[in-house]
Amino acid sequence: MHVAIIMDGNGRWAERRGLNRSIGHQVGARAVRRVVEAAARSGIEVLTLYAFSSDNWSRPTTEVSSLMRLFRRYLQSEVARCVDNGIRLNIIGRRDRLAADLVSIIEQAERVTADGARLTLRLAVDYSARDAIAHAAALTPVGSASRDEFAKNLAAVTHSSPAAPAVDLLIRTGGERRLSDFLLWECAYAELVFIDDYWPDFDEAAFAAALREFQRRERRYGSVMPSVPPAPQVVPLATR
Ligand code: IPE
Ligand code: IPE
Ligand code: MG
Repeated sequence: MHVAIIMDGNGRWAERRGLNRSIGHQVGARAVRRVVEAAARSGIEVLTLYAFSSDNWSRPTTEVSSLMRLFRRYLQSEVARCVDNGIRLNIIGRRDRLAADLVSIIEQAERVTADGARLTLRLAVDYSARDAIAHAAALTPVGSASRDEFAKNLAAVTHSSPAAPAVDLLIRTGGERRLSDFLLWECAYAELVFIDDYWPDFDEAAFAAALREFQRRERRYGSVMPSVPPAPQVVPLATR
């Protein structure tokens, strides 16, 4: 099962408390740790977290640099824990606009965690689904309408390795009901769950509630109702 999360609301969480938006991002990083652990425990195979969109470059320089600093620190501090817990890291998105030292940290984190077989944790940084689709289309031979070939090119241009399956469940915190240029191709049949809580408040109970909501959905893929209900795909987490 592939779960993707748009971790939104860090800034508003901080502003509500009269704090700098960067503090919201710092507290949000703790929520990332909680959710990664819960995902590993619940048997989810792939978790993709939207950490920084290509449009987020338009934010004030101080906020962008604090996010990059936080991202660097997160990778450096989490790699050992990922290895211990069987978590494979993959940073998806563009790399040509990231600082050279950050790219080295990313490459090293991916190398060191490459044997992780329990959960693939994908962090989307400088990610834009539309850019990725445009670049993948440019690599696909004119006249080819193969979805598989296009998906392979999409994985290549976003540094997705291993290639991830389609998204099953997309969660967005922070109250907005939009995709903000995230995984537009991969979410073709994703179930969407929108949560009003800001990302720093997102905890295991909220995650468990989203997974239960997903289990209640009936996925039809354009076909008719299945006669046998599908078996649960995830191990239940603690309830709220
Ligand atoms: C999401 O929180 C994190 C990033 C986009 C990096 P926001 O920073 O967008 O928080 P709000 O939406 O302004 O509250
Ligand atoms: C989406 O959130 C990007 C991330 C969570 C990293 P935004 O806060 O940037 O999206 P909009 O601007 O509300 O659409
Ligand atoms: Mg936002």
